[in-house]
Amino acid sequence: MKNFEFKNPTKIIFGKDTIAKLTEEIPSDAKVLVLYGGGSIKKNGIYDQVKTALKDVEHVEFGGIPANPEYSVLLKALEVIKAENITYLLAVGGGSVIDGTKFLSAAALYDGENPWEILTGGKPTLKGMPFGTVLTLPATGSEMNSGAVITNKETKEKLAMGGAGLFPEFSILDPQVITSIPRRQLVNGITDAFTHVLEQYMTYPAGALLQDRFAEGIMQTLLEVAPSVLKDPSDYDAASNFMWSCTMALNGLIQKGVPTDWAVHAIGHELTALYGIDHARTLAIIAPSHYQYNFETKKEKLAQYAERIWNVTEGTLEDKAYEAIEKTETFFNQMGIETKLSKYTEDYEGTAETISQRFTERGWLGLGEHQSLKPEDAENIVRMAY
Ligand code: NZQ
Ligand code: ZN
Repeated sequence: MKNFEFKNPTKIIFGKDTIAKLTEEIPSDAKVLVLYGGGSIKKNGIYDQVKTALKDVEHVEFGGIPANPEYSVLLKALEVIKAENITYLLAVGGGSVIDGTKFLSAAALYDGENPWEILTGGKPTLKGMPFGTVLTLPATGSEMNSGAVITNKETKEKLAMGGAGLFPEFSILDPQVITSIPRRQLVNGITDAFTHVLEQYMTYPAGALLQDRFAEGIMQTLLEVAPSVLKDPSDYDAASNFMWSCTMALNGLIQKGVPTDWAVHAIGHELTALYGIDHARTLAIIAPSHYQYNFETKKEKLAQYAERIWNVTEGTLEDKAYEAIEKTETFFNQMGIETKLSKYTEDYEGTAETISQRFTERGWLGLGEHQSLKPEDAENIVRMAY
């Protein structure tokens, strides 16, 4: 096991009818900006619950943060923060609203000229404006981590940021919010969380027995509850297990003491930036090709995953490892997720070269758990996924 340090300061308030607890967490003298997305919260009652909870708290609203939070929209929210002397942010939404709020938390205290540099400067944010979240969509884990991904439509870029100053102070997780989520987003959530675990697990054996079991436990739970969640999102037992699995998949715990990969996400973000493909679907496109391309360095963990998650008992280590990749792709396909880029765009020729060139320009010369994947390897992986 590798050495590690672990600190996660986010308070989780989990369970039925917990949105009412909002006021206990926000300082009474705060001036709050409530941030939300395209309006789903106004149809499913979450907005009303938040408004009721905030009735004695001074607050202003900013709605309209789109999926894949857009920089130009966030700059408008930043103007509101400054004009209204906001002291506290409250995100009510999925990963996009929460990530947008994290950017604003950093941007509100940023003293440089151009806030886009928060994304390109490579410096972690150590202090941001305090914020909390009301999660409406289990998927990203953003409600309990300190990372964010922001999109710039103009330049077709999607870049990550983060730092110890960007953990939510609290996150309210009421699994009942799942009831109104469309199937497409439920499937995305399952796929994103499952792939988060894979990124922190599908590397090489590191002698971290407990972390492997944590990771396998999350994947097994997701597989177990996925059919029930998709059949009936109001099934509270399934919803609560789904929600907590998504949070645990990316709150930092399972990656401590082990090597991590994250190449699938790095490449996937480019597909969202270029074609607007849903985040989770980009992962399902890239992951199978990535594991095939890196088969030799990943085969031990692939075989362990085959045995423990997919109950593959026959064949050599290599046979099991191959079967694991096939089973993973079939799992995505069975939920209705296409795993080839050509199913999403007719314009795919040249994508591999574009991504490789972008990685070279950014100096991303060594991705993956061995930092050995060069831009030309990413190019080959993307081409395999056409
Ligand atoms: O905008 P509204 O109207 O609210 O609708 C949203 C949106 O259209 C809808 N939705 C959310 N909760 C709902 C609901 N509809 C009905 N009922 C509800 N309860 O779902 C749509 C998608 O929402 P979004 O927030 O975009 O989805 P998700 O949570 O999957 O977030 C994706 C974003 O998070 C980033 C992705 O790159 C992407 O930009 N990620 C963030 C990570 C992090 N911070 O740790 C890690 C991830 O790997 C990921 O990169
Ligand atoms: Zn993800």
